[in-house]
Amino acid sequence: MALLEMKGIRKSFSGVQVLKGVDLTVEKGEIHALLGENGAGKSTLMNVLTGTIPCDGGSITFDGQSLKNITVKKSEQLGIAFVHQELNLFNDLRVFENIFINREITGAFGKLNKKEMIRESEELFTRLIYVYPAASIILMIIGLVGLIKNKVQAEKQKS
Ligand SMILES: Nc1ncnc2c1ncn2[C@@H]1O[C@H](COP(=O)(O)OP(=O)(O)OP(=O)(O)O)[C@@H](O)[C@H]1O
Ligand SMILES: [Mg+2]
Repeated sequence: MALLEMKGIRKSFSGVQVLKGVDLTVEKGEIHALLGENGAGKSTLMNVLTGTIPCDGGSITFDGQSLKNITVKKSEQLGIAFVHQELNLFNDLRVFENIFINREITGAFGKLNKKEMIRESEELFTRLIYVYPAASIILMIIGLVGLIKNKVQAEKQKS
């Protein structure tokens, strides 16, 4: 059985049909590249898969489970990770808060464990970061936070 099966996925924005019955099958261990011109609907298809946006029709099966009303949280719990094309940061939050957004470490009664999140962020920074000195500062910041967020997610899924 395929690991992922998307069948007949449909999605319109303001009456404009972007996905017109898209099928995508991925077997375990396979790597696929989704190719298409700008505006073809690649991001939209991935947004549907991860529950970022709801679709208008079609079905998704992942690891034998039918995914109905998929949410970002549910897809993350299933191990579906999505590196978004446009990475947005919360400028008013601190570095560790951006890294742990939506996967915060909590203690008793759901209290945020800031100390631990800062410690883990620090540890990740020392392990992962190499900064090319001639890189643009904005790209560096976006790249660093994206890299670390994905690493945190991957490590969370392993544990
Ligand atoms: N949230 C949205 N609201 C309205 N229209 C949208 C939204 N998201 C995507 N679209 C439109 O849907 C179409 C497909 O966009 P999408 O971003 O999925 O394309 P893409 O294949 O990822 O393109 P690119 O190669 O530029 O990343 C485009 O016409 C886009 O303007
Ligand atoms: Mg895109």
